[in-house]
Amino acid sequence: MDDDADSRAALAEALREGGYVVETAADAFKGLGKLPDFAPDLVLTDLKMPGMDGLELLRKIHSGGNDLAVVVTTAFADVETAVTALKEGAADYLTKPLDLTVLSVVVAREMDRLRLRREAGLLRARLAERYSFSNLVGSSPAMQNVLKVLPQVAASKASVLVTGEPGTGKELLATTIHEHSPRAKEPFLKLHCAALAEPLLGSELFGHESDASQGNPGRREGRLQQAAGGTLFLDEISAIPPALQVRLVRFLREHAFERMGGEETLHADVRVIAASDHNLHEEVVRGSFREDLFYQLNVVNLELPPLRARPSDILALAMHFLRKYGAEDGKTLEGFSDEAMQRLAAYEWPGNVRELENAVAHAVVLASGPRVTAMDLPPSVGPAPVGTAGIRIPGSKMEDIERHAILTTLEATRGSTTKAAEVLGMSVRTIQYRLQQYHSAPKSELHMPAVLPKRPD
Ligand SMILES: Nc1ncnc2c1ncn2[C@@H]1O[C@H](COP(=O)(O)OP(=O)(O)OP(=O)(O)O)[C@@H](O)[C@H]1O
Ligand SMILES: [Mg+2]
Repeated sequence: MDDDADSRAALAEALREGGYVVETAADAFKGLGKLPDFAPDLVLTDLKMPGMDGLELLRKIHSGGNDLAVVVTTAFADVETAVTALKEGAADYLTKPLDLTVLSVVVAREMDRLRLRREAGLLRARLAERYSFSNLVGSSPAMQNVLKVLPQVAASKASVLVTGEPGTGKELLATTIHEHSPRAKEPFLKLHCAALAEPLLGSELFGHESDASQGNPGRREGRLQQAAGGTLFLDEISAIPPALQVRLVRFLREHAFERMGGEETLHADVRVIAASDHNLHEEVVRGSFREDLFYQLNVVNLELPPLRARPSDILALAMHFLRKYGAEDGKTLEGFSDEAMQRLAAYEWPGNVRELENAVAHAVVLASGPRVTAMDLPPSVGPAPVGTAGIRIPGSKMEDIERHAILTTLEATRGSTTKAAEVLGMSVRTIQYRLQQYHSAPKSELHMPAVLPKRPD
């Protein structure tokens, strides 16, 4: 866009010769009008134009959610405005009079970057679609590792041990496994092993015979019987006392058990999913957890990574909870302000997904719309530290977009610079050089926990 007809025509001609499809407009209003139908990949605009200037146009383009590059042109004397344009998200600026060679290099480079960005986005969307489970949000490679084995895990009857820090979604994962299993229509029962003392826990799990002296007037069915045909979720399994561990091992081996205080051997077809936020193997080594029980439970181990190890899930989860709590509160909130997003992305989330869920629920109550602002978030979700190299949302500076592309691609390639170089069309050396530059970036961005189903000995 340029208000000077001659320079407009000359530029269009030069770009068409370069093989591009070009539309021109005499001012920003006309240009904006052409955007929906023409849907360009790149907009080249003068900064000084009558009516709406280039900066205003740039803001309008970005606020319209258009994924395109804007290159601004400016008189040599007005570099300051050009710098402002860069800050506001312009891809680059060129000084007038334009050098056509420089122009073609810049345009070609921007088209390349745009293509890579779209490919990376597509790749990610395709992955996410492949392993999506209605309520389980997670397109990060770390979560995809868990989600991609879910169909097989759900189809099987094998015991599952779900491990992960508090609030990482262990119970949700157990529920999802049951819901996608052939047992979905049968009961899904839960028992929290740390919530009850030994005698009670025993009778909750296995049931008990009537024993008036123990204050048990009638015979009682345990969860194992109640869950027959279905799934039993044993939460915080590390808290189960030794005597009950022995009984549970027997049940897992033979599907047989006796009620507490009873002699009769009962059978029940129950699949067991256990959860722990402790490292059970360490407890085995320390002697507080039976090794045979560990192996009976650990036929499949699903490890849920902490949220700080999968930063690319934060915003998707935040949007998921925003919709959930917004709907409950009857508020239609569009999303988060840039600053709010930055805070969410920069925070460490020691309480994992549960803490994020609570933060969003809190924000929804306070938000007056249309977007959740940083002020609506709980103060514990502290301000993003200034000047750190944390990933920012693409759409600001080109370096930020490049950094975002490199880091998320590395995440997707599980740290392989060779594969990332291939995806991004960059050299391995450039990526390595950039990584050195990002040296101060949080390590968690590149941390990739492995999820391997383990077989019993
Ligand atoms: N991937 C996810 N997608 C959507 N919601 C999630 C996800 N992970 C966790 N949540 C939500 O976060 C909250 C905490 O999850 P959950 O109770 O399953 O965690 P947990 O690992 O069992 O925690 P704890 O160890 O403290 O019992 C729940 O409301 C759950 O629905
Ligand atoms: Mg739980």
